Amino acid sequence: MVARAIVVLLLLACVTISGGAWAISERELLNNPEQIHDLLADEKIAFEEVPNPHWRADACVACHLEKAVEDDKMPPLRTTDYNGLCGNCHDPSLVAEYIHAVDIEPPDEFLDRMPEDFLAALDRGGGVLTCIACHDLPVHCDESSFEQAEINPLFFRGGPYSSRTDLCFNCHDPEDYERYNPHDQITDEGELDTEQCFFCHNVTPNRSAAKSIEDVTFNVVEDLKKLCTGCHPYSPHPGGSWFGATGNKIGGGPDHLKVPPEKIRRRLEIMEAESGTVMPREPGTGSIFCATCHNPHERGVQFIRKADIGADGYKRLRRGKFEICLACHEM
Ligand code: HEC
Ligand code: HEC
Ligand code: HEC
Ligand code: HEC
Ligand code: HEC
Ligand code: HEC
Ligand code: HEC
Ligand code: HEC
Repeated sequence: MVARAIVVLLLLACVTISGGAWAISERELLNNPEQIHDLLADEKIAFEEVPNPHWRADACVACHLEKAVEDDKMPPLRTTDYNGLCGNCHDPSLVAEYIHAVDIEPPDEFLDRMPEDFLAALDRGGGVLTCIACHDLPVHCDESSFEQAEINPLFFRGGPYSSRTDLCFNCHDPEDYERYNPHDQITDEGELDTEQCFFCHNVTPNRSAAKSIEDVTFNVVEDLKKLCTGCHPYSPHPGGSWFGATGNKIGGGPDHLKVPPEKIRRRLEIMEAESGTVMPREPGTGSIFCATCHNPHERGVQFIRKADIGADGYKRLRRGKFEICLACHEM
């Protein structure tokens, strides 16, 4: 306890002396994951500095109070509030967003379907869904099983799965299950499905009156990528990799979600006018966001032709896969 208090003090001292970013080592963060929220909030560290403790022999202390001393005995966890343990780094507003609701008690028909090890994990979580229901941590706790990272990178319980939905069917009934698609906005009868708009908009946009992004409102304030990242986990992209969707680990790649410098902004405006497309920026900040490049609507929802382009096209891109780069970059 005393030792930990000293580490925390050192950590704080380090922050104060240097005045912030880049001064805190990964090791200090791994030793003090409970501090990460505050450090991020105070902008003492950047998101990219949150250390990834997974599949590593030297980062057990991010979750356990010590490294295992004896074989197969579990070193004590920092907390058995599993959602809180993971939440030190995985708060929706922090590293990434997880797609599934937690803290729910499964209805009986789910319990009847769930395999033994899912039921046991549910019990350890206090009878409600926690992160450990689907993520099987021990898989990545033992160095001798690290090679499984290749085939089961998200350490899914019962994994690896060849399809993401196979995981879901441990609990959900395949019969009435369909992956929810908010881009499906026009019914089979050809009518606008206004319920779907509420996935992203807080008021159904008036399609005749709306002339641009400035004329519609959203469910989230400020950071509009949050409209998408709950279902489409984001890491530096494009050029980076999409893990989850592809099973890939984090890759490099430019961070495009930023306010474009003057030169790029001017080129973009010219290219928008020349090509007759819109590539909207986030109102307020002027930042590039997901819908700058992707059109989240179904074809035909937008009355304005240039706002309709890209809807339902290849990867919903507003311009071709390569042309889109030229909207902002000269080559
Ligand atoms: C990201 C958090 C995290 C990291 C990092 C982590 N563990 Fe764990 N570990 C857990 C959790 C949570 C459990 C309990 C899971 C459960 O009850 O389903 C666990 C369980 C265990 C167990 C019991 C295994 C079993 O079969 O029941 C051992 C032993 C263990 N961890 C050792 C380690 C060691 C050694 C490391 C470092 C190489 C490590 N862990 C890294 C979170 C972690
Ligand atoms: C010390 C911080 C930290 C803690 C604690 C932590 N994670 Fe992570 N986790 C990360 C980072 C960083 C990444 C990489 C994500 C990124 O770069 O967007 C990651 C990635 C993941 C991934 C994707 C697989 C991978 O290897 O990239 C899963 C799944 C995951 N975490 C689940 C959990 C669960 C479940 C817990 C709780 C038992 C947990 N994490 C606790 C920091 C943490
Ligand atoms: C460990 C069991 C379990 C697994 C695995 C699981 N779910 Fe669930 N899911 C639940 C429970 C329990 C509920 C709440 C059901 C209820 O109250 O009727 C739920 C609810 C949902 C809901 C509606 C509630 C909401 O807002 O999230 C969706 C959508 C969903 N799950 C999608 C998925 C998908 C997609 C997968 C696979 C990637 C999946 N689930 C895997 C247990 C599970
Ligand atoms: C998955 C999220 C999402 C859903 C669902 C969604 N929208 Fe949007 N909508 C956005 C985003 C992001 C923008 C800003 C980018 C843009 O202008 O296309 C936007 C902009 C708009 C605009 C202004 C377009 C322009 O640039 O002129 C209209 C009109 C609109 N939405 C109508 C709708 C209607 C009607 C529905 C329901 C049928 C709907 N949206 C459902 C995310 C969504
Ligand atoms: C509720 C979950 C959900 C939300 C929120 C959501 N999407 Fe999607 N998205 C989906 C589903 C489901 C698909 C269809 C996947 C498929 O058929 O492969 C999809 C498809 C896509 C695709 C095409 C992927 C491909 O491989 O062709 C893009 C691009 C996309 N969404 C972007 C966005 C953007 C941008 C936003 C935010 C404005 C957003 N999505 C919000 C669920 C969601
Ligand atoms: C019902 C099952 C389920 C539960 C419960 C669950 N996850 Fe996941 N998680 C998934 C699935 C499925 C994916 C892969 C998503 C994809 O490929 O689209 C995933 C992906 C992730 C990722 C990597 C993708 C990303 O968004 O960065 C992290 C991190 C993660 N989960 C953390 C958590 C944490 C933390 C919790 C507990 C608060 C949790 N998960 C609870 C099923 C679950
Ligand atoms: C600068 C433009 C740009 C921005 C900004 C952008 N994307 Fe993309 N995205 C692309 C391109 C280009 C591709 C197609 C890559 C390919 O097919 O090689 C793509 C592909 C995708 C796909 C399909 C992935 C797959 O597996 O094929 C999804 C989903 C997606 N983006 C979602 C998002 C989300 C969510 C955001 C915001 C967090 C976002 N994109 C921001 C350009 C962008
Ligand atoms: C909406 C405008 C926009 C689009 C579209 C776009 N970029 Fe960028 N890109 C930017 C901005 C802004 C930066 C950051 C420049 C800076 O910070 O000086 C950037 C940076 C980069 C960088 C990092 C190197 C550098 O110049 O700083 C690469 C590489 C890159 N983009 C490649 C691509 C590729 C490949 C595509 C097409 C898939 C693409 N970009 C599409 C706006 C865009």
